[in-house]
Amino acid sequence: MRLVADADLRPLNSFRVAARARWLLELHAPGEFSRLRDEARLAGLPWLVVGGGSNLLFVDDYPGVVVRPLFRGREWHEDGDAWRLRVGAGESWHETVRFCVEAGRGGLENLSLIPGTVGAAPVQNIGAYGVELSDLLHAVEALEMKSGKRHRFAVDACGFAYRHSRFKAEPGRWLILAVELRLPKRWRPRLDYPGVAEALAGAEPTPRAVSDAICAIRRRKLPDPAALGNAGSFFQNPLVTAADYARLRAAHPGMPGYPAGAGRVKLSAAWLIERCGWRGRREGDAGVSAEHALVLVNHGRASGAGLWALARRIRDSVAARFGVELEPEPRVIPDQ
Ligand code: EPU
Repeated sequence: MRLVADADLRPLNSFRVAARARWLLELHAPGEFSRLRDEARLAGLPWLVVGGGSNLLFVDDYPGVVVRPLFRGREWHEDGDAWRLRVGAGESWHETVRFCVEAGRGGLENLSLIPGTVGAAPVQNIGAYGVELSDLLHAVEALEMKSGKRHRFAVDACGFAYRHSRFKAEPGRWLILAVELRLPKRWRPRLDYPGVAEALAGAEPTPRAVSDAICAIRRRKLPDPAALGNAGSFFQNPLVTAADYARLRAAHPGMPGYPAGAGRVKLSAAWLIERCGWRGRREGDAGVSAEHALVLVNHGRASGAGLWALARRIRDSVAARFGVELEPEPRVIPDQ
């Protein structure tokens, strides 16, 4: 355990913006949290749990305690027709995916190369190339920070939806300790998302080959946060009614839309942003990726406030042109 006052958050956010936390608490074991929770100098302060910092934008300094769970460990359990894997919240998500595919156990491969930790994955229900974490999650173990009580949430109790969960809906309440994944032994590759089958280039679709293909697509389309600060998609893909989509498509021929169940259609935020002329644009060091219009990037010394100002201008121009409201995908701190 380590408690640091006035900590530098720059290395802890993948946008690489400058920000400081009043306190930074690094935890190596869940029990350490209970010992610190009641410390007088931390009393009354807000808590913010940060995994890999790849889904956050600090617009300002954080006036409370940033908690960094570093819980490790991966254990396999056999469960009838599936393999169960219990993983500590501090493990790397991508390394966990590779750990599975190297063992020949498929299921997670479409979620390869998503930055961040295992504990952060359920918060926004990470998803890519036709698969969402909730498809493979068995349970989440979490500590209620206020009471210090441990809870185990089965998948149906996690409130999962597109980029959403109960953990996201209740910020500051839960510290995720571990995630249990369930990988069916009877594996079927998911190659239906546009471009995935092509990226396999005729190779036999083993879990590892699909993972390699997904990595190749992501490396081509998305900037590497280690080289250029970013937090992946900055906006969620908006959901509209089928009637609204028909009206929008009549006014804007070619506008993509994907059926999203219950008479709803998912629009492509990247397409809307690109049509407003933002792709590849730069305002100082805050910019929009030239490879993917949904990704905001820090070209070097952009501030969180500068990136957020750019995001608001993008949101306003999409609203003015299409009448569609974009919602940020990462958490913006402090809440805006
Ligand atoms: N498009 C554009 N311009 C662009 C990029 C894309 O017009 O610059 C259009 C194209 O029509 C393309 C469509 O958008 O066919 C979809 O693009 P893409 O396949 O890249 O998917 P996305 O909807 O933009 C979502 C996720 C990504 C995830 C990909 C692949 C959200 C907010 N984003 O992006 O997730 O990797 O699908 O499944 O749902 C993330 O959440 O950080 C993230 C990167």
